[in-house]
Amino acid sequence: MQEKGKSEAEVRRLLREARRRDLTYASGRILSSMCTSPLPIASQAFCEFLETNLGDPGLFQGTKNLEREAVKAIGSLLGNPEAKGFIVSGGTEANITALFAAREVAKVAKPEVVLPSTAHFSFDKAARMLGLRLIKAEVGEDNTVLASDVERKITQRTIAIVGIAGNTEYGAVDDIAALSEIALERGLYLHVDAAFGGFVLPFLKELGYPARDFDFSLSGVCSITVDPHKMGLAPVPSGSVLFREASYLELLQVESPYLTQPRQCTILGTRSGASAAAVFAALTYLGREGYRKVVKECMEVTHLLREGLLSLGMHVPEPWMNILVFDHSRREAIAQELRTRGWAISRTRKGEIRLVIMPHVKKEHAEQFLRDVREVVKKL
Ligand SMILES: Cc1ncc(COP(=O)(O)O)c(C=O)c1O
Repeated sequence: MQEKGKSEAEVRRLLREARRRDLTYASGRILSSMCTSPLPIASQAFCEFLETNLGDPGLFQGTKNLEREAVKAIGSLLGNPEAKGFIVSGGTEANITALFAAREVAKVAKPEVVLPSTAHFSFDKAARMLGLRLIKAEVGEDNTVLASDVERKITQRTIAIVGIAGNTEYGAVDDIAALSEIALERGLYLHVDAAFGGFVLPFLKELGYPARDFDFSLSGVCSITVDPHKMGLAPVPSGSVLFREASYLELLQVESPYLTQPRQCTILGTRSGASAAAVFAALTYLGREGYRKVVKECMEVTHLLREGLLSLGMHVPEPWMNILVFDHSRREAIAQELRTRGWAISRTRKGEIRLVIMPHVKKEHAEQFLRDVREVVKKL
């Protein structure tokens, strides 16, 4: 660090310079991210609550109440307004928290968790931190887990099973109803990772798209991860983890002397109330109607892209939600050329080209993308 500080103008110039090198969602070029531009009202709330700390909630009772209200609203979206939980930093923290609770419920030596092979890598982190062995169950042609394989992989050491409601690569939704049955029969904890799908599936259903059940309405589901900083349109960092009952949270408690609450259940100590305020603002401003409209528009752009890609000779399976993968015998060349043309696209582990159609991807961006794909294919 330098001895003397620089002027505000100089600091601002340096910040602007750094930001100019970033891609922006507004450009419509980012087709690889599950995040998007936050709603202006959520960004404003975030800035206004920057100094709040929910690690010491007695000092910030108003902010704590916003967190409670946000959790209640997400719980009601997920079939259980009584669910208890927190606004956290994102899907990774939420998944770690849920598996932490599952481990504390079971108290089994050498604990194992059975989860789909498509699970997000946050579970690998959770397993290493919590001393869990991950047993990966096979997925079928449709990229959802084979419930029969989950059942086969359960042992005396299994402490939890995990299902995914909108997996990262394909948006595929596991048969959570079948997993719920297995969990109830075997007396196991079931965690659902709906980090992406939590703000999509309830609205897809209302819009008449086929959508599987995945939430607390299935009685075996013990906890759910849902990320407001993905399809919830809240700023990063905003995740959430909800538990069916408060008793799960009690298992996570540690004493927190010298703070305004005697016990703490979250992984983080000092934690931002800005995220809670921003999530509250987004949920309250949009309501179900607003989110339904967001999902409707994303799905329209998703289908526009699918039709266009099909007409260009791509293999494009029917999407589960606003995540689209496509494939072609010359996929390497196509992906490379699209990147050269400034499109941020990603690839699945199998190599298909993957697009996440977030709210910042508008019809005109999709049309430009299709024009570029057409040119790329012509030149192959
Ligand atoms: C299904 C799923 N779970 C968890 C995560 C991790 O979320 P985060 O990156 O917010 O920690 C992701 C991120 O893409 C995800 O797609």
